[in-house]
Amino acid sequence: MSVRVLYTGALIVLGLGYMFAALYLFGSHSGRDGKPTTLSVQDIVIAYSGSKEGTRLETALRGPMAGMLPVTETGQILGWVQRGADEAEYEKDIRPILDRRCLACHDGSNPHLPNLDGHENLMEVVVMDTGADVFTLVRVSHIHLFGLTFIFFIAGLIFSHAYVRPVWFKCAVVATPFVCIALDVSSWYFTKLFNPMAWVVLLSGAFMGLSFAFMWVVAMYQLWFGAVPGPVAEREADLRSIG
Ligand code: HEC
Repeated sequence: MSVRVLYTGALIVLGLGYMFAALYLFGSHSGRDGKPTTLSVQDIVIAYSGSKEGTRLETALRGPMAGMLPVTETGQILGWVQRGADEAEYEKDIRPILDRRCLACHDGSNPHLPNLDGHENLMEVVVMDTGADVFTLVRVSHIHLFGLTFIFFIAGLIFSHAYVRPVWFKCAVVATPFVCIALDVSSWYFTKLFNPMAWVVLLSGAFMGLSFAFMWVVAMYQLWFGAVPGPVAEREADLRSIG
């Protein structure tokens, strides 16, 4: 019973974590192509290889940073970039907006976020958007590879106690997330070189989620609700008759 409780607790918290990860992913990527209600291949292409039509500032304002300011102010900033990002206009109209809305996080104190304090710093993100830079990808890769190995190891270990036949299918379910995470992370880099690789990012993420959901539901059901499967009951009966 105590192992059941342990497994159930782990499954519930991992499930919640997966849900929040999906929400975060949606919130940070879905608006990149200008359509915030769907997560498309184009969103992924822009995230990794850049939007061919705008600067990093514009992409961020249409995507992950869209919620940081009202649309009228977004329009003001985008208009200023399109008119040539003039310094006098910046001091007059743009700086007050950025000071109020952005500097809480982008004042230069966090080395992982672009510094938006002053015209010179801001101009660093008013250049063509080439997507996440390789160093950022390296940082996110190592976090994902280590972190997800733990998650799928725990989920797979719990699921491995479930009764699922044929055995090859059970093995495939356990192996899928590991194959997918390797494909997913490597495709971030390949998407930079060849945009259609964004499909691999999307599909590997989808299969990872499907296999996690399958393991979760089967394990949870068999832990608490399922009757002992026929072959297992027979095996136990055989053992008793020998004993
Ligand atoms: C609550 C903190 C916070 C505020 C406020 C904030 N940002 Fe960000 N910003 C972040 C974080 C975290 C990232 C990196 C994560 C990401 O790229 O999704 C980021 C990334 C960026 C990037 C870089 C995107 C890229 O290409 O890597 C730009 C540009 C940016 N923000 C602009 C802005 C602007 C403009 C504002 C104000 C309207 C703003 N941010 C307000 C937290 C914030």
